[in-house]
Amino acid sequence: MTDAAMTDRVTAFAPASIGNLGVGFDVLGLALEGAGDRVIAERCDGEGVSIAEVRGLDGELHPYLSTDARHNTASIAAQALWSAHGTGGIRLTVLKGVPLQSGMGSSAASAVAAVVAANGLLPEPLSAEALLPFALEGEQYASGGLHADNVAPSLLGGMILCPEALLPQTVRIPPPAGVSAVLLHPELQVNTAQARRGLGRGVTLKDWVTQQGFLAGFIAACHAGDIELIGRTLKDVVIEPQRAGNVSCFAAVKAAAEQAGALGVSLSGSGPSIFALCRESRAVNLATAMEQACRAEGIDCQSWVSALDAPGARVQEV
Ligand code: HSE
Repeated sequence: MTDAAMTDRVTAFAPASIGNLGVGFDVLGLALEGAGDRVIAERCDGEGVSIAEVRGLDGELHPYLSTDARHNTASIAAQALWSAHGTGGIRLTVLKGVPLQSGMGSSAASAVAAVVAANGLLPEPLSAEALLPFALEGEQYASGGLHADNVAPSLLGGMILCPEALLPQTVRIPPPAGVSAVLLHPELQVNTAQARRGLGRGVTLKDWVTQQGFLAGFIAACHAGDIELIGRTLKDVVIEPQRAGNVSCFAAVKAAAEQAGALGVSLSGSGPSIFALCRESRAVNLATAMEQACRAEGIDCQSWVSALDAPGARVQEV
């Protein structure tokens, strides 16, 4: 029996993430430093996964998120793992650190933290990679689609290419040296499932060719550490034009970020958060410029600066 088998309470942290990373709709994502969810998993009487409570950023009981285990991404993900590998009962406490409907991978962070915490209670815990399909079940419930671009980077850290066609395999993209991410969260909400339903079903051949050229160029630029090529390829001609209108401050924030030296700027996931990649030395000024532009539009906001190799989910000693 391993030490893990003796444990009856595990706390796990999972970071927020930038879905799509602009150039790779549903197939590319980046872990974000500085924000994330925590889940405590404890053994209890009974069978299966239940939720004790969900607390918000303010530490108060969460006013919206369900404690019904059938309707919470954390318990749905943990239950998928537990049905396959666990026995007995576990109870989850979900501590939200990622704002809801922010485009920062909030539901993914809960699902990932829950499977990592539940995994820590197994006599023989699975590898992080093996947890991906279970975490995806929770995310799929929340967003209505099987896309791993928030779950995979939150679980594994860094920048991850994760097309559905390759799952459960994912591909780690090396972070180019000297580049940082800035994420701005305007105090607005966008529901991902709704935003996905609003997307056109088709894409022109011209846009398809252009966008796959950008994605291939961006991945090649990351491998080569070619910052100038990152600036030429971090673009979205298909999804961003359809979603930009959902975020009233987007145009102003994007213009401010570009003026402050961003290599590329787009929505994070379905928005409202907006991210930019930039040279490390410019990141703090860029965050300030994005915040000022957002507030000038009358919208309060918060920003984070992150390395491109932020660590993924982990068990925490508490
Ligand atoms: N890639 C998905 C989307 C996830 O853009 O709809 C967003 O978080």
